[in-house]
Amino acid sequence: TGLNAAAQAYGKLYFGSATDNGELTDSEYKAILSDSNEFGQITPGNSMKWDTVEASRGNFDYTKGDVIADLAEANGQKLRCHTLVWYNQLPQWVSNGGFDNATLIEILQNHITEEVTHYKGKCYAWDVVNEAISDDSGAPLRDNIFLSTIGEAYIPIAFAAAAAADPDAKLYYNDYSIEAPGAKSTAAQDIVKLVQSYGVKIDGIGLQDHLIVGSTPSLEDQVANMQAFVDLGVEVAITELDIRAENPDANQYQEQQAKDYAATVGACNKVEACVGVTIWDYTDKYSWVPGVFPGTGGALPWDENLQKKPAYDAILEAYGGS
Ligand code: G3I
Repeated sequence: TGLNAAAQAYGKLYFGSATDNGELTDSEYKAILSDSNEFGQITPGNSMKWDTVEASRGNFDYTKGDVIADLAEANGQKLRCHTLVWYNQLPQWVSNGGFDNATLIEILQNHITEEVTHYKGKCYAWDVVNEAISDDSGAPLRDNIFLSTIGEAYIPIAFAAAAAADPDAKLYYNDYSIEAPGAKSTAAQDIVKLVQSYGVKIDGIGLQDHLIVGSTPSLEDQVANMQAFVDLGVEVAITELDIRAENPDANQYQEQQAKDYAATVGACNKVEACVGVTIWDYTDKYSWVPGVFPGTGGALPWDENLQKKPAYDAILEAYGGS
């Protein structure tokens, strides 16, 4: 038994984890990651992003991404490919290039065509566009070089290029703070409608779910939110789940955290078109959280010593396993 085995027995496609190249030299870590009873899917945390893959114009380097793709294949795990178009980890030659509309469209299409073709047949899903929505409710779309040069059409243009390069990959829009009904979730629904209005395919919405212990949206709110996307004709997945403690030194957070994981995995279980859950790495040893939110942490189901926390059992139970 394990989290993925339990998820699949429940009827889900996978339970998965993100990983990163540097961590794979840790053999104890790698052994757990490679256990397909625990993880039926992996996502590269960094190595398929634009700054890694096309650091200079027209020069593509897939070395790091291939390591993760090969690992997934060797382990019999699905691969979620992440991510093609993002304002962050975007090389300066793109963001400061001063390109005109036609040239930037060509650069965008070329990047997507090249990378999606390279991984054709290997990706269950692609996060085609990541975090395009502003956190300022007055401005639905985030101001980035693609929006300011091309306009909102950059989003359907990106999905069209990905669909042409790998018609079998599920094409996702992925973002954070869209886990409960609200302005940002509505803006994400508008992105689905925008892409569809261009006659272009969009298959899924990735709910990142970078959550906080004790402030995680209720199961009911999460279900209603997922359903609003599903009603537009797309599937959903939880793509980057972690639930951080504001005070990870206080051990009592783990009990509430287990409940929050249960509510979140439980919400996916209640929605048939929620295909799977991915945690953003599986151990606190390699979590991005303390680096970005200093003083917080403890966000994952395995602790820094690769020991399972109560959250692990809560997820297993949510799938009806034990
Ligand atoms: O590779 C360099 C290394 O050469 C250098 O010495 C070191 C010193 O800073 O940095 C290394 O790069 C870091 C990279 O992770 C690889 O470890 C970057 O500084 C660091 O910023 C980068 O962080 C990543 C972050 O995205 C960047 O925004 C995290 O690992 C990654 O987990 C995180 O993932 C994002 C998703 O893609 C989108 N959603 C949010 C999520 C969490 O932030």
